[in-house]
Amino acid sequence: MSTDIIAGKKIILGVTGCIAAYKSAFIIRELVKRKAEVKVVMTPSATEFITPLTLSTLSQNEVIVNTFPSSQKNGTSLSTWHIETALWADLMVIAPCTVNTVAKIAHGFADNALTTLVPALRCPLIISPAADVDMYNNKITQQNIKKLEDTGYYVLQAEEGELASGLRGKGRLPEVDKIIDAVELIVTGFKKDLSGKKILVTAGPTYEDIDPVRFIGNRSSGKMGFEIAKAAYIRGAEVTLISGPSNEVCYPEIKLLKIRSAEEMKKSVEQEFEQTDILIMSAAVADYKPVSASDKKIKKEDKLNSIKLEETADILASLDKKNKIAAGFALETDDELKNASHKLKKKNLDLIVLNSLKDKESGFEFDTNKITIIHKTGKTIELPLMSKFQAAHKILSEILECINS
Ligand code: CTP
Repeated sequence: MSTDIIAGKKIILGVTGCIAAYKSAFIIRELVKRKAEVKVVMTPSATEFITPLTLSTLSQNEVIVNTFPSSQKNGTSLSTWHIETALWADLMVIAPCTVNTVAKIAHGFADNALTTLVPALRCPLIISPAADVDMYNNKITQQNIKKLEDTGYYVLQAEEGELASGLRGKGRLPEVDKIIDAVELIVTGFKKDLSGKKILVTAGPTYEDIDPVRFIGNRSSGKMGFEIAKAAYIRGAEVTLISGPSNEVCYPEIKLLKIRSAEEMKKSVEQEFEQTDILIMSAAVADYKPVSASDKKIKKEDKLNSIKLEETADILASLDKKNKIAAGFALETDDELKNASHKLKKKNLDLIVLNSLKDKESGFEFDTNKITIIHKTGKTIELPLMSKFQAAHKILSEILECINS
């Protein structure tokens, strides 16, 4: 069973003329790898940066550059290609989108193949603007970007960083992963429905030190929490992510606070919690820690035969959640529903996400997850196996339901 929601989708990729146009090759490769059907439309200036041959080879389709293709001119085809292509698509993505094309779309121009296609679309459109810092921050550009957002297009804001000119600032095209995440979001039918919300997510394991070399940890990779943080950002939230040791990476706009132990996680959560609307505790926090950690490596000759442990504080249970939404996770091996419901009540949560270790391809080492979401009202939603990013969206949608009910 494919858990990839992009598979089979018909996607138009619009490419415009800026240095980031080379990244369009990677976007196409990822979409094709995930079994989407891709048609590419380029502006004439995009062809100065990357060739139509490259993009047509990768997309396995003819690339449209001319508003009047030769087949139309010589009469072999009378097709209105822009209408047909627009109606064919499930989604269009313009990445990178120059300030020139942003301005044209914002004002309804249709003076090349790409801008002619846009007003004919019936499907959603993702626009990912990219430019040098001053061009991007320019007032007129910003007004145009706002206009695109107000029109209902999904705008993926450019990122901060080093630019091709050598200047630093906002204007970089986001990494391919983030563009694909936005594609997933829109294909799934979600919008920026978390705008204005401050979300605090915890992820990963905690490590409780025994000595400078050893620790007590667990098998959590942090992936589920990172996917929740990314999904929340893509849906418009302001996100803080507190993570234990993990190799996962998140978007640069997410405030990432790295901690190690349960105690450090507690401190960090308490500092952030006041300015938070929604807390999602997906971290696998250690329940026990060594009473004291040795500051020197414990040697074999020390003949250590036990480690004295004490309980860590329960972070989630100890917070005052008045006027906040709080969600927890429960990883169970037996009596799953009963145990999860018990934790929901005991920790005074709005919902709890149950993971059963009995489910295949679900949990620690996998990119997929099979979860059951239990509301405090008792409403229970058992979901099939899906990617952790998709699961993250389902959790966020249920949280939105808590807010709206
Ligand atoms: N949690 C927490 N602080 C802890 C332990 C857990 O905030 N010291 C949170 C987890 O982040 C999770 C929820 O509580 O959201 C449930 O965690 P879990 O380990 O499943 O439950 P415990 O209460 O620790 O119970 P047990 O380990 O006995 O199943």
